Amino acid sequence: MTVLIDTDPGCDDAVALLLALERSELDVVGLTTVHGNAPVEETTENARSILEVLDRTDVPVAMGADRPLLVDLETAEHIHGEGGIRGELPQPGPETQPVDSHAAQFIIEQAREHEGELTLAAIGPLTNVALALAIEPELPELLDELIVMGGAAFVPGNITPLAEANFHADPHAARRVVRDATPTIVGLDVTTSATLSPDRVESLPQDDPLGRSIDDWLTYYDDERLERYGIESAAIHDALVIAGLVDDAVLETEPYQMVVGTDSELDRGALVCDATGVTGEPPNGTVAVGVDDERFRELLAESLERVLSR
Ligand code: BDR
Ligand code: CA
Repeated sequence: MTVLIDTDPGCDDAVALLLALERSELDVVGLTTVHGNAPVEETTENARSILEVLDRTDVPVAMGADRPLLVDLETAEHIHGEGGIRGELPQPGPETQPVDSHAAQFIIEQAREHEGELTLAAIGPLTNVALALAIEPELPELLDELIVMGGAAFVPGNITPLAEANFHADPHAARRVVRDATPTIVGLDVTTSATLSPDRVESLPQDDPLGRSIDDWLTYYDDERLERYGIESAAIHDALVIAGLVDDAVLETEPYQMVVGTDSELDRGALVCDATGVTGEPPNGTVAVGVDDERFRELLAESLERVLSR
């Protein structure tokens, strides 16, 4: 499967990238970066550092939007750490300089180059994807699939009672993408239980910076947050999207008519699914409603062990 990942690393993004780059089922043709967990300059630097650690500087990085379409920029260093990520990443070297194209343009270029075959996995705020759609309205037809980590369809949000962080960060972009791009939505309904305790990763080496970083990325929630969600270890939201691409038994999806709220502070970024068909409108995407957590853990633990043994 040919995959392009739009990302804002981010602890769970970092784990998602390790997983994607390790799996032979996926051919990662590039990373596009967006504001989100930190300003875009920092998320881009983090993405480049991850590629460097994995010795995958062959994967191009295109830097994207530095702010949401309309609302003010809000970042999440208080959760993910200074610079948007915990752990001990090296400074990125010059060989990973971002390409000249803006992320939105790069998404379109890749979609045209791999017409009908590209899966776009968006695991940050949807600004770049919305911009790409504005430039190329045929983007959904050019893609094989658009899969998005975002939204809280039938469960409470993690930023407001209604909104999940990626949709709240750029609600107008999320609204556009959900309306026009027939996405597969992987939201908090399924990602909150996508946890992996570091003990599950055999021989996670504490004498190696990558081993210590993975440990930090798997445990980036504080106790208050763990208690709020009733989980024992941090939710690795973004990695679930990648796991779902590797093994289609991981996620169970259902089609829905959906819309994202942008009208008030109350509904900002809320993903509203027409559960009973009351609107009479046909589905405009699918939503992950079930997850095989154990399969996710197995797949992720095994992949991280492989990353570490190289
Ligand atoms: C999403 O928000 C970000 O903080 C995470 O990286 C993930 O993409 C979870 O709500
Ligand atoms: Ca993310």
